[in-house]
Amino acid sequence: MKSILITGCNRGIGLGLVKRLVKDQISPKCIMVTCRNLEKSTELQQIAAEHKNVHILQLDVEKTDTFENFAKDVKQLVKDDGLNVLFNNAAYSPKATRIHFVKAEQMLETFSINAVGPLMLTKALLPLLKKAATLNKDQPLGIDRSAVINMSSILGSLSMNDSGGLYPYRCSKAALNMITKSLSIELKEIGILVTAIHPGWVKTDLGGPKAPIEVDDSVDGIINLLKNLSTTHNGLLYSWEGKPLEW
Ligand SMILES: NC(=O)c1ccc[n+]([C@@H]2O[C@H](COP(=O)([O-])OP(=O)(O)OC[C@H]3O[C@@H](n4cnc5c(N)ncnc54)[C@H](OP(=O)(O)O)[C@@H]3O)[C@@H](O)[C@H]2O)c1
Repeated sequence: MKSILITGCNRGIGLGLVKRLVKDQISPKCIMVTCRNLEKSTELQQIAAEHKNVHILQLDVEKTDTFENFAKDVKQLVKDDGLNVLFNNAAYSPKATRIHFVKAEQMLETFSINAVGPLMLTKALLPLLKKAATLNKDQPLGIDRSAVINMSSILGSLSMNDSGGLYPYRCSKAALNMITKSLSIELKEIGILVTAIHPGWVKTDLGGPKAPIEVDDSVDGIINLLKNLSTTHNGLLYSWEGKPLEW
């Protein structure tokens, strides 16, 4: 894998992924990390100052009208190599979401960030993903060729929903799962693998302090899974430990 682009990297699992990737034995040539607010991303800036292969890009995944220009910035960084991996990680979860509290605006905003953003970003970066897939056509389907990874959640699974509520988040991740499935069918023929990952219940702002899994452990599992992705993983949902999960 020469290049990877990860969204939502100023905190949580996104930041953990960046910290882990720069330490990897074979760190990618180009690690592009996005955040909404460059000024507040001090930890990310420190990492970029220490590692010349880390490039910080500003991106709000809700602002789909900025994606065309964003793709031009990415192209300048990856040059003629194309983009190996797009990791749609950024997401949002509103808090009080039982039936009596859920609001239409919350549903729309969460859908926009967690489902529409990843789909439209994939569309905007498709020429670069396709370029990497073509250049590396001798490689099997996976991250050394080209892949789109969507950070999902078991909360988006219909079959595993046994506690209800959380309408905005659950519905947005269920939509992301369907996006993953449809993309996996459409993009397989051009050499791009698409899969969804559940990172576990992780101690972050989103996961909360009671979460049993540390960011570093989740990230280790995710990186291990990424390295082992193959055609059998296309269009499916996996846990951070590499186990297949029911949609
Ligand atoms: N933690 C868990 O237990 C858990 C479980 C299942 C799935 N996940 C998934 O794992 C991924 C990472 O979650 P996390 O726990 O690391 O969450 P987190 O700590 O809350 O971080 C969320 C990240 O997404 C970014 N983000 C939110 N809205 C955005 C927008 N409109 N545009 C661009 N970036 C935006 C945030 O940026 P700002 O700082 O600018 O807001 C932040 O970088 C998410 O997809 C989440 O759904 C997490």
